[in-house]
Amino acid sequence: MNSSQSSNENSKNKNVIKIPDFRKYITKKKIKDISFHSSGVHITWSDDITYSYNRFWLRENATDPETTHPDSREQLLNLLNIPDNLSILSAEITKSGSMRIVWAPLNYESFYDPSWLRFWGENRLKKNVGLPDTKLWKNFSSHDFPTVNLLEDKQEESLLKWLHHLKVYGLSVLRGIGDTTKDLEKVLEAFGIIKESNFGKVFNVKFEEEPISNAYTNIELPLHGDLCTRQFMPKYQFLHCLENSSEAGESLLADGFMLAEILKETEPLAFKALTEINVHFINKAESSDYQWVEKVIILDKSGKVVEIRMSPWLRGPVCGTEEEEEMFYKAFRTFMRLAQKNELQEKIKLQTGDLLAFDNTRVLHGRNAIGKGGKRWLRGCYMDSDDVDSALRMGRIPRLP
Ligand SMILES: [Fe+2]
Repeated sequence: MNSSQSSNENSKNKNVIKIPDFRKYITKKKIKDISFHSSGVHITWSDDITYSYNRFWLRENATDPETTHPDSREQLLNLLNIPDNLSILSAEITKSGSMRIVWAPLNYESFYDPSWLRFWGENRLKKNVGLPDTKLWKNFSSHDFPTVNLLEDKQEESLLKWLHHLKVYGLSVLRGIGDTTKDLEKVLEAFGIIKESNFGKVFNVKFEEEPISNAYTNIELPLHGDLCTRQFMPKYQFLHCLENSSEAGESLLADGFMLAEILKETEPLAFKALTEINVHFINKAESSDYQWVEKVIILDKSGKVVEIRMSPWLRGPVCGTEEEEEMFYKAFRTFMRLAQKNELQEKIKLQTGDLLAFDNTRVLHGRNAIGKGGKRWLRGCYMDSDDVDSALRMGRIPRLP
């Protein structure tokens, strides 16, 4: 196809699309100037910010029907069918404010919507595109614990607000979801897929005569993360309270990322040990033998804390030298003591109909010993982050009944 054949910007052909995906892009910024060079273009915007755009990325995201399928919006063009010597003959602003590029050596013409260009100029280097930034916390006063009431006539708004809090603070309570054993799945399956584990799709946290986990006893549970023994810990955990008439039995919560920051400041050697020394995480069960070797505090390449594996009771030996074993125990005990500090914990007593959500790779959870008399019954499950993130990016709960 040459430039005269493909002049698609003003075409009425229904196969012509403006955006190579289904996202809604909006910008008030206009393209002010375009310059091109051997590897792509520089666009300067009306607010005088300049972003760069690579030639291959632009070419493979052209919106003509030979490059992008107009229905699926997925690429039809094989990246290897783009010539190595792809270059730009001209790059200009059209009358409607889009960018027009003529490619060499094929004399092929492509148009790019300014809202799509602006969005990816702003967001290309980000890892959490379209998601809120996290805020670390030490505790909450009773009135500002992230809580949302599930309003019957504003269900989508309520659920999105609850998930937004979950991303920002790593925890959030949705109040008033009901008191039946169907309510947990009804809420979660409106936007996500429950992640099954060896404890089932949904597990019941209540006293059992012959428990397969300490969670199913009445004893105190120190702060921990669930399933540290797996390669991929479940990202989110959800606990629906059906009954909590027992004395005590409050849920304990602590921001592991905040604890790690404090540890780094106050006990840098302990922080270093927990970010460098591997330990075996090993479950204990008659019907499974899950194991994973990892650090307790996991950093990304920039040194940012991205995951906490706090397992006070499901650990095997330290995977290191004799000296490292000693250093690990000293550091881990320091970290556990820090997590026990009252001022770094939040304590809440869940009520019937509450759905507590928390980031299992960030927020540590536990509970006080459950008193005699009364009952405490929670139904719990896990979910990966993808569906939560997807709902937040779309601003929509896709499967609301
Ligand atoms: Fe747990």
